[in-house]
Amino acid sequence: MTVTDAVSLKNVHLSLGEGAGKVHILQGIDLSIPFRTSVGLVGPSGSGKSTLLMVLAGLERADSGEVKISGSDLSVMSEDDLAKFRGENIGIIFQSFHLIPNMTALENVAVPLELAGDKDAFQKARAELESVNLGHRLNHYPSQMSGGEQQRVAIARALVTRPKILIADEPTGNLDADTGKQIIKLMFDANKMHETTLVLVTHDPELANLCAQTIHMRSGEIIESHFPAHDSELAREVLGKNGLDEVSA
Ligand SMILES: Nc1ncnc2c1ncn2[C@@H]1O[C@H](COP(=O)(O)OP(=O)(O)O)[C@@H](O)[C@H]1O
Ligand SMILES: [Mg+2]
Repeated sequence: MTVTDAVSLKNVHLSLGEGAGKVHILQGIDLSIPFRTSVGLVGPSGSGKSTLLMVLAGLERADSGEVKISGSDLSVMSEDDLAKFRGENIGIIFQSFHLIPNMTALENVAVPLELAGDKDAFQKARAELESVNLGHRLNHYPSQMSGGEQQRVAIARALVTRPKILIADEPTGNLDADTGKQIIKLMFDANKMHETTLVLVTHDPELANLCAQTIHMRSGEIIESHFPAHDSELAREVLGKNGLDEVSA
């Protein structure tokens, strides 16, 4: 059987919290995301977007329903297998960067490669940092870098293993507009050059509208979906003339 979907969720439910604080967050999510596409996940605060990303990344287990990533059923994997699968298939970036503070940029980016036993970890990490224009910051610590630089390190760390899927939770939320645009461009470059499937949570309608598809959540459910026209100035700038259509056709 050929696997065509990067993500396939069927009737996924998840509650978190204990006792009176227990919240039924995901309430029957069905979702298919084909390989090489880009999806912008939008919806009000508290609608379950971050929780859904955690499930896609295998960082939270669904209570019921089916979660398949790249054709593999996450629910049957042990914690060790899940960690290995994540390392090989999924890159993640967060609003607040989540770099390891006592490691340099180069060390941060080398971590996922070292965990995978790659002998060329530092060489590849250096090349990846150069590709996000941070060749001059290899030995800087996170506290010595701007927010935009830290997020570029986080992107390099997420992409250095060439994951099939890049998951991003409000990746531009802590950045000013111009810096955010650099981050957006790097994600869509990966989508184009490495055919990385993008799944982005964002409050920024401009960013969501750059994606091939937008998915709208409310109260733990998917309520609608759109395929935006890429006719804005930003779309031309970030996606190029033919934009996403070349990749997702
Ligand atoms: N660990 C948790 N325990 C209990 N409730 C949680 C937990 N994590 C998130 N929630 C609740 O689940 C809902 C959805 O959260 P979240 O997925 O972070 O939404 P979003 O990212 O769309 O803002 C919120 O009401 C939040 O308070
Ligand atoms: Mg969130």
